[in-house]
Amino acid sequence: MPPYGDNITDYQTLSINTNNLDRYQIRWMAEDDIETMTKIDRDTWGDTSWSSKDFFKSLNNLSWNCWILENPNSNQPILGYGLQYQLDNISHVANLTLHPNQCGRGLGGILLRHMIEYARQNDATKITLEVNTSNTRAFKLYANHGFEIIEYLERYYSDTADAYRMELLFDVTY
Ligand SMILES: CC(C)(COP(=O)(O)OP(=O)(O)OC[C@H]1O[C@@H](n2cnc3c(N)ncnc32)[C@H](O)[C@@H]1OP(=O)(O)O)[C@@H](O)C(=O)NCCC(=O)NCCS
Repeated sequence: MPPYGDNITDYQTLSINTNNLDRYQIRWMAEDDIETMTKIDRDTWGDTSWSSKDFFKSLNNLSWNCWILENPNSNQPILGYGLQYQLDNISHVANLTLHPNQCGRGLGGILLRHMIEYARQNDATKITLEVNTSNTRAFKLYANHGFEIIEYLERYYSDTADAYRMELLFDVTY
């Protein structure tokens, strides 16, 4: 695996409302993580959660990059995960989920900034994602990082759940 599991303190370009950043790190996802991730995903997303097979397929697809945010010194080391894929020069955030007891502390931004930076370093011209219109916390996180709404997707998740498609354009004038 490429050595991209940097310490997150490299990405402190935006404010983070949590202390002791050096206790967290981002690393590549491994097969051993899938059981925990599947549980976190089920606890968060219920019926629409990803199965272990979904995570396994992402892990083994070369277009995908799957990241784990962890506190290696904790007895619950996996705090969350972010999965992105890139087709041509467009990167897409497919899943960004924190453990339910880790939400609301600024940790999502650590993963998001890592994914943005990774896409940028891989010559992406933009990064896109979809978010439920009722998911205020996630929407704010994306908007705070420069994502803008480009499309309203009616009934994207279900008969009653619409989505925004958002994108962050990179400045590619080198
Ligand atoms: C969405 C998610 C990744 C956000 O990460 P996070 O670390 O919890 O987010 P933050 O604590 O940085 O909060 C983001 C913003 O929402 C605000 N916020 C926090 N809790 C909130 C709440 N309950 N309601 C409204 N806004 C809230 C924060 O103040 C912050 O805005 P600010 O920086 O302008 O003050 C995380 O909460 C999560 O995994 N949620 C469950 C899965 C999910 O919804 N994933 C996104 C799918 S698109």
